[in-house]
Amino acid sequence: MTQDQRQTTAAAPWDKAGWRAYPRVQMPDYPDADALNAVEAQLAKYPPLVFAGEARRLKAHLARVAEGQAFLLQGGDCAESFAEFSADNIRDTFKVLLQMAVVLTWGAQLPVVKVGRMAGQFAKPRSAATETVDGVELPSYRGDIINGFDFTPEARIPDPQRMLSAYTQAAASLNLLRAFSTGGYADIHRVQSWIADFTSGPEAERYRDIADRIRDAMAFMQAAGVTSATAHELGQVDFFTSHEALLLEYEEALSRIDTTTGLPVAGSGHMIWIGDRTRQPDGAHVEFARGVQNPIGLKTGPSTTADDLKRLMEKLNPDNESGRLTLIARFGAGSVGEHLPRLIRTVREEGANVVWSCDPMHGNVIKSSTGYKTRPFDSILREVREFFAVHKAEGTIPGGVHFEMTGKDVTECTGGLRAVTDENLSDRYHTACDPRLNASQSLELAFLVAEELRNRRVADPEARARAV
Ligand code: PEP
Ligand code: CO
Repeated sequence: MTQDQRQTTAAAPWDKAGWRAYPRVQMPDYPDADALNAVEAQLAKYPPLVFAGEARRLKAHLARVAEGQAFLLQGGDCAESFAEFSADNIRDTFKVLLQMAVVLTWGAQLPVVKVGRMAGQFAKPRSAATETVDGVELPSYRGDIINGFDFTPEARIPDPQRMLSAYTQAAASLNLLRAFSTGGYADIHRVQSWIADFTSGPEAERYRDIADRIRDAMAFMQAAGVTSATAHELGQVDFFTSHEALLLEYEEALSRIDTTTGLPVAGSGHMIWIGDRTRQPDGAHVEFARGVQNPIGLKTGPSTTADDLKRLMEKLNPDNESGRLTLIARFGAGSVGEHLPRLIRTVREEGANVVWSCDPMHGNVIKSSTGYKTRPFDSILREVREFFAVHKAEGTIPGGVHFEMTGKDVTECTGGLRAVTDENLSDRYHTACDPRLNASQSLELAFLVAEELRNRRVADPEARARAV
C-alpha cells in the first residue's frame, strides 16, 4: 500500500457513535431502550477510568516490543465477575503477574511490559446464542456487564444497569492496582522472595537454578548500591489494563477526547482488543476501534485470511504507527505452523509494524473426560513453543504472551507441577467462562517461556545486539 492510500484511509471521518451504522455481532439486544439510554448518558458523565497519557505511554512501550527491545506479558481472567470481586483476588492475580514478569525479564533480558486482563474484562463473545440444560434452552451468558450467570430466564435478560456496576468494579480495581504498583507492594525484592518461595518446594526444584540466578543478580545490584531506595524503578512497576472492547455502548460512553492531542481515546482501559469473532473488517467493532488512539489488540485465529489481515491493518493502523497494533495469535497447538508463517508473510508484504503476541489459551480448549471445559498445560506450552519456533524460522520477533490466569489455586486447566487431573477439575472450578491457569501453573509457564527466551538469545546474537 502506498503512503497516499494510507493517508486516505486515515482521513476517513470517525465518530464515537459511528459504529452504530455497521453490522454488529455478539452484542445484546437490550429490551428497554430508555433504560439503556439513561445508563449511557450517566456513564458519559463519569470520569474516564484511564487517561490518554497512560495509553500513549503503553503505546510507546509496545513500540519497543515491536522492535525486540521489550517483551509483553498480558494476563488475567477470561471474564471478571461481580461475585468473585475482592481485594484478595486482585492482589493475588497481580502478585502472580509480577512474579511471571520478573522471571520473563530474566529470560528475555529485556524489560517486560505488564498488561492485566483486569479492571474491565467483563463482556464475552459466545459460540452459541443459547444454551440448553436438561432440555431447557435459555440465552447464553455474555459476561457480568451484560447478563447474569444463573441459569434462569430473568438472569439472562440483558440489563444495562450492569454497565454501571462494571464501571464501579473497574474503578475500584484500578484504584487498588495503582496503589499496589507504586506503594511498595511491587518492590522487586519482595517479588524475588515470592519466586524463591515457589521454587523452594520439591516439585519446583527444576526451576531453582533460575530463581537462584535472579537472586544473585539482585544481591549483586544491592552490593553495588542499586536498591529500591536509590533506583526508583526497582520499588514500583508500570502496570496497564486491557479488555475486549465487545460492548460498544459501554466503550462509546467512556470514550473521551484527549486534551493534549485533541484525538479520541477509549477511557475504559489502556489497551482494548477485538476478539476473533468480532473482527469483521466492515463490522461495528473494527469501526469503533479504528478511531480511538489506544493500543489495539487483534485476536488472530485460524480463519484469518491474508486479505482480512491486510484490510484490518489498513483500517486499524493506517499510519503504520509502531505499538498501535498487537496481533494476538491463537491458533491452537499443532496449527501454528500452518497459519502463523502465512500471516507473518502478509505483515511483511505490507511493511506493517505490529507486535506479535501468542495467546496459547483459546485454540486449546477441550472437554475433559469428566465433562469440564479445560485446557491441558502441555498444549498451552506446546503452542508457545511453536510460536517461538516459527518466529525464529521467519526471522521475526515473538513479542509477547497472553494468558488466562488467576492468582488463586483453582483447578480449571489440567497438568502442571502439582498435576491437576480430569478428576480434580470439579474441586475448585470457579471460572465465569474459560478455564484459567492457576497461580502455580502460571508461574511454571513463565519459567518455561523464560528458558525458551534465554535459549533463543544465546543462539541468536543479533537479538542480543538489537536489545542493547
Ligand atoms: C478471550 O480472549 O477471552 C476470547 C474470547 O478470545 P478469542 O476472541 O481469541 O476467542
Ligand atoms: Co477466554
